[in-house]
Amino acid sequence: MKGKFITFEGGDGAGKSLQMKKFAEYLEAKGIEVVLTREPGGTEVGKEIRRLLVEGDKDKFDEITEILLFYADRRIHLEKLIKPALEEGKYVLSDRFNDSTIAYQFYGSNKFSDTKIMDMLYQIVAGDFKPDMTVLLDVDVKIGLERSFKKSQEMVNKELRFECVDVSFHERLRKGYLDMAKKDEERFVVVDASKSIDEVFNELIEKTKERI
Ligand code: TYD
Repeated sequence: MKGKFITFEGGDGAGKSLQMKKFAEYLEAKGIEVVLTREPGGTEVGKEIRRLLVEGDKDKFDEITEILLFYADRRIHLEKLIKPALEEGKYVLSDRFNDSTIAYQFYGSNKFSDTKIMDMLYQIVAGDFKPDMTVLLDVDVKIGLERSFKKSQEMVNKELRFECVDVSFHERLRKGYLDMAKKDEERFVVVDASKSIDEVFNELIEKTKERI
């Protein structure tokens, strides 16, 4: 494929969406055509799946149903949006992708003893396809939760199913992301997201400019 697929990952309050937008502007200034998207909910059908996933009662699904919905969203996202844009030579930047499922549903939630089901479903929906680069915005859990608490006070948030989980969940999530990054240093770029917006962005550019 002619384009590049770049995913942004991290826990609550890491500043993914803001850094992703700034990164998109930086690429556009270089004359690159960029598509910004996210999971869950990158397509029209995906938005419906997202609503099912992020709204309502915490216990409304068991963990298998939930995971199937994430992969249904990922399949349609890949087929309808990501792959066609890459074929056209665009850079696709996605706020979350498969690493989120491993981080949240495996490392964070503790409901699975291994990643077998995720790996199998990934193979079915994506085959050998994977991101060209994954930016992990790594933030100290306390700082991240303070930021996202502030943000949630400023807006009316219906998307609460995945919010308010305990601090140990976020500690496991952070460790999980760092483990994944260590195992695949070729794909991951880890950026210290505890600093100011501009400092984080400068580190992001410094660490990625060779690759793009
Ligand atoms: P997102 O909109 O990125 O929320 P946030 O702004 O809080 O980062 O994602 C919504 C929630 O979905 C988020 O809490 C993470 C969760 N999620 C999973 O648990 N598994 C997944 O595979 C994905 C893509 C998201």
